[in-house]
Formats: sequence, C-alpha cells, structure tokens
Amino acid sequence: MIDRTLVLLKPDAVQRALVGEIIQRFERTGFKVVGMKLCYASKETAGKHYADDESWLKSVGEKTKKSYEAKGIAVKEDAMSIGKRIRQQLMDFISMSPIVALVLEGHDVIGKVRVIVGDTAPNKAAPGTIRGDFAFDSYGLADTSGRPIQNLIHASDSQESAKREIGVWFKPDEIHPYQRVDEALLYRKT
Ligand SMILES: Nc1ncnc2c1ncn2[C@@H]1O[C@H](COP(=O)(O)OP(=O)(O)O)[C@@H](O)[C@H]1O
Ligand SMILES: [Mg+2]
Repeated sequence: MIDRTLVLLKPDAVQRALVGEIIQRFERTGFKVVGMKLCYASKETAGKHYADDESWLKSVGEKTKKSYEAKGIAVKEDAMSIGKRIRQQLMDFISMSPIVALVLEGHDVIGKVRVIVGDTAPNKAAPGTIRGDFAFDSYGLADTSGRPIQNLIHASDSQESAKREIGVWFKPDEIHPYQRVDEALLYRKT
C-alpha cells in the first residue's frame, strides 16, 4: 500500500549537520519526498505533535520501564507520570532550534522508515540504522541528564498517527504530489 509518513529531523540532527546524510538514506531506499521544510516549532505545534494522549504517554513510560528492567533496575514511578515528564522535555527540546520536517511517500513507508531509523535508544540501535550509526545516547544517560534521548529523528508509528502528525506540520498546499520516473517500474499494473 502506498502511504505517507511524517519524519522530523530533531534539533540534534540539525545542530550536528546531519540533515543531508539522513535524508539521503530515505531517498536512496526509494522513498519520495513530497513535503520538506526547515522550521521552528512553536510551543503550540510541539504540544500538538506530542499530544496529551493517554495511550501514547503510557507507552512511552512503559518502554522506559522495560529498558530499565532489562538492566535489573526496578522503576517505582508509574508509566503515566514518566510519559508526562518525557512529553514536557520533548516539547522544550523540539522547539529549541530549527528542525526539518518531511513527508515521505511509498509502499509501506511507515514501517520501513522506522526500520531505517532504528531503536528508540541509540545505544541499542543496530549498526546500519540512522540512530545506530550516528548516535549512542541511552535511556539512562538521558534520564540522569534530565533531557529527552537524543536520537535524531521522529517517525510516525502508524497510519493513524502519520495522518494526524502530517496535519500538525503541513498545510495541504505544502505537500506536492508528483510522478517519479522509477514509479512506472515500481508500481506497474499487471
Ligand atoms: N525515558 C526517556 N527519557 C528521555 N527521553 C525519552 C524517554 N523515552 C522516550 N524518550 C524520547 O521520546 C521520544 C518519543 O518516544 P517514543 O515514541 O517511545 O520513541 P520513538 O521516537 O522511537 O517512536 C523518543 O524518540 C525519545 O527522544
Ligand atoms: Mg514514537
């Protein structure tokens, strides 16, 4: 299925001058850039993107707890309050410097982009993934430093969140559908 996904190159990617390197990885895989801009996230946009959504807050908290438990460290704080704390940190972080927002299009783009991006914790992300190749941050280092994990990228995790997140960052007329020459081979009708 041909889908679209939202990718953000977060402030750490822009500050470390990794924008070209990262976009190249999506392009060379074959995905089509249909939206792209450098922008400053207002607090309002940051708050919409990292929505105050119960299931997302819980899942962020639970992922954090699991990563500590895997190291034999018990975390008393409940998942929801971890999620709320991280959301606040992310909203501050994402609006501290310009970011690059992209809409990518292609067959199964949402899942494949997350494979290219790699694990949330760069210290666990496989070599060959963006996070594995360009970062080494961890849950522990981020938490003791009171900041979000610096993992360079946000990528939508489902069709539902992609649709919502694209709407947060792009007006309809900022997305540009076009035909690429390789599509006749890729999406040929049998
Ligand atoms: N325990 C944590 N401490 C600091 N930052 C975190 C923590 N958990 C998540 N984050 C940050 O929140 C972002 C959103 O979390 P999540 O959606 O679970 O990961 P992903 O970006 O891989 O989809 C992560 O990319 C990371 O920057
Ligand atoms: Mg996520």
